Amino acid sequence: MSSVQPPRGPLVGRAGELMRLAELVGLDGGESSTGVLLSGDAGVGKTRLLAAVRDRAESATWRVLVGHCLDLGDSAPPYLPFSEALGRLAAQEPVVADALAASRPAVGRLLPGAPRQRPGEGPVEAWTTDRSDLFESVHAALEQLARSAPVLLLIEDVHWADRSTREMLSFLFTRSFAADVTVVATYRSDDLHRRHPLRAVVAEWARLPAVSRLHLDPLEPRDIRVLVQTLQPTPLPEQRVRDIIARSEGNAFFTEELVAAADRGDRALPVDLADLLLVRLDQLDEQARQVVRAAAVAGRQVSHRLLERVVGIDSTALDRGLRAAVDGNVLVAVGANGYAFRHALLTEAIYDDLLPGEKVRLHRAYSTALGSTAEGPAAELARHARAAHDMVTAARSSVRAGDEAMALGGPDEAARHYETALELLADPATKSEVAGRGEDRVDPVA
Ligand SMILES: Nc1ncnc2c1ncn2[C@@H]1O[C@H](COP(=O)(O)OP(=O)(O)OP(=O)(O)O)[C@@H](O)[C@H]1O
Ligand SMILES: [Mg+2]
Repeated sequence: MSSVQPPRGPLVGRAGELMRLAELVGLDGGESSTGVLLSGDAGVGKTRLLAAVRDRAESATWRVLVGHCLDLGDSAPPYLPFSEALGRLAAQEPVVADALAASRPAVGRLLPGAPRQRPGEGPVEAWTTDRSDLFESVHAALEQLARSAPVLLLIEDVHWADRSTREMLSFLFTRSFAADVTVVATYRSDDLHRRHPLRAVVAEWARLPAVSRLHLDPLEPRDIRVLVQTLQPTPLPEQRVRDIIARSEGNAFFTEELVAAADRGDRALPVDLADLLLVRLDQLDEQARQVVRAAAVAGRQVSHRLLERVVGIDSTALDRGLRAAVDGNVLVAVGANGYAFRHALLTEAIYDDLLPGEKVRLHRAYSTALGSTAEGPAAELARHARAAHDMVTAARSSVRAGDEAMALGGPDEAARHYETALELLADPATKSEVAGRGEDRVDPVA
């Protein structure tokens, strides 16, 4: 999976934070932390700051690995950001990744597309991954990598992390490294409501001696003024600039959207960020809107192939819609054959704005497309099937998702999938239909 990058204009303000982060990861030559927690509100500029540090690290010939947690509820495969980071390493430095996988088979299993024994076949030990072996292996692999160049591992958006990813991070933060390895984890502090699973974990991480915290406050009004100027070189009327400074409340993403709206000549700027984002959607023609809404149901990213099957319009019309969405700065192309929303906040606003019936219809289309190809993780199929009220497919794929999580060494995620399956199978009609089809194993091993 490719990294979703913010647009790369100059970094405005943040000189102090950049210096501090560079120091914490050891870029200024001093002692580095094992872990850094970078927090701040959604859209405040965590990823942008991280990009600046990543550039510096890469110029210093460090090895930078990046993985993202995704907003997929419980349907993300365990350790997804680690798989992504290692997958990218395998694509860029196949020889290095092969050597790691050879010396640490558990790491090899995290690689996307790694051959595995089929879940559910043979004794459980034969197809599941031992979790402590996996933790040890990832730790050792990072150390091994750092022998040739310092390693900076960036795990983005851990407010969406699954439990296995959180526990892997706890393990890495607790263990020290015998070589230069720093792990930076970002999260949205405004997402951490009182019962959020990351809240207590962050408090524990922050108490560890080798872990440092850096919180990003909103930008200062003078920085927002500069940001407006960099985004809109033709000067805006002073009153408009002041209006943007006041409304953005120091949030970089909100500022970008307000400038874009001002550029379009929108008179009354919506007060709410979600409404402002939807204005961007309203600029598109109906066909492009249809494509974008369908993409939002997939999540932050979607492959062209899957989108094509879900939208169900001819390929010329789809291309036209996608082109409009890319030109309208709603979607960006990632890799050779996929699309991502320019920012996660856009995905959320567009998904939340769908009518209940639209959501069900689109989830059903995804469920059908994924079910007929057996493409992608079973947990994704289970998520779409549940949202589409197709309980039979949801039950069957939840069992498979549990097996897949076990194979990856994620027993907590596996247990949750099996529990979901059991809940769904508690309905006699679902149970008899699942039993009637009978090709799949539906007796959870948990
Ligand atoms: N200091 C800055 N200078 C210039 N642009 C910035 C700055 N901070 C953020 N931006 C821009 O604002 C937008 C939002 O920033 P970014 O994606 O880094 O936020 P975030 O905190 O990572 O949000 P999220 O929590 O949703 O991931 C991006 O387009 C980014 O390029
Ligand atoms: Mg971000």
